[in-house]
This record gives sequence, C-alpha cells and structure tokens, in this order.
Amino acid sequence: VDVSAVPVGSSITKMWRGKPVFIRHRTDEEIAEAKKVDGEKASLRDPQLDADRVKKEEWLVVVGVCTHLGCVPGGQKASDNRGDYDGWFCPCHGSHYDTSGRIMKGPAPRNLEVPPYAFVSDTLIRIG
Ligand code: FES
Repeated sequence: VDVSAVPVGSSITKMWRGKPVFIRHRTDEEIAEAKKVDGEKASLRDPQLDADRVKKEEWLVVVGVCTHLGCVPGGQKASDNRGDYDGWFCPCHGSHYDTSGRIMKGPAPRNLEVPPYAFVSDTLIRIG
C-alpha cells in the first residue's frame, strides 16, 4: 500500500484477506492521546502499550473489524463518530476504541487486531 498521499489526520481502508484494514496517519495529538492511555495500561481490558501496536508512531495499521461481533466500526471518515476516545466507534452495541485501536468501553473483548505488516520504504507498507 502506497501511503505517500495520505495526509496527516486521515485514514484509508484497504482490503486484505477479505477484511478491511484501517491505515491511519495519526496526528501528534492522536499519538499523544495514545500515550496518555498507556498510563492506564493496568486497567485496560486488553492491556497493550501503543508502542507494541505500531512500527512508526505516525502510522497505525489495524484490522477494521470490531472484536465483539465483527461489525466494521466507524471512524475512517472525518464526519464519522469516533467515540469517546477519538479512535473508532462501533454502533452495534457501542464499543469505543482509542487512537491506538484499543478497546476502552463497550462489549468488545479485545483491541482491534494489528495484522502482520512491514514498511518496505518510508511510504510503502506491505500487509501480510
Ligand atoms: Fe462492535 Fe458489537 S460488533 S460493538
């Protein structure tokens, strides 16, 4: 996936093995929010540090499938409701994910999955 044309603060969706993969070019604020949540790691439902979920701070790559019942959460478009934690919100039963894709509130049991991927160059990501 060539991400060179994805501006800071926006996201794209690519299909991988039949599932949407969300790639977000995070703003400094979004990165700071994720680091703030790191401080609550002990109380997270699926405790993970932001650093364990990204390869480069500015890029978050997650499978866009809610870990509750498999809906695709909203939050990819600027006009979407991103939930209480500024990440993604799944309206089916109200799961809120943070800017690192971690489950913060609602019924989903796990964070949005980080798929296997690698940076082939600064702006080229290979998923899988
Ligand atoms: Fe996301 Fe139910 S599938 S809250």
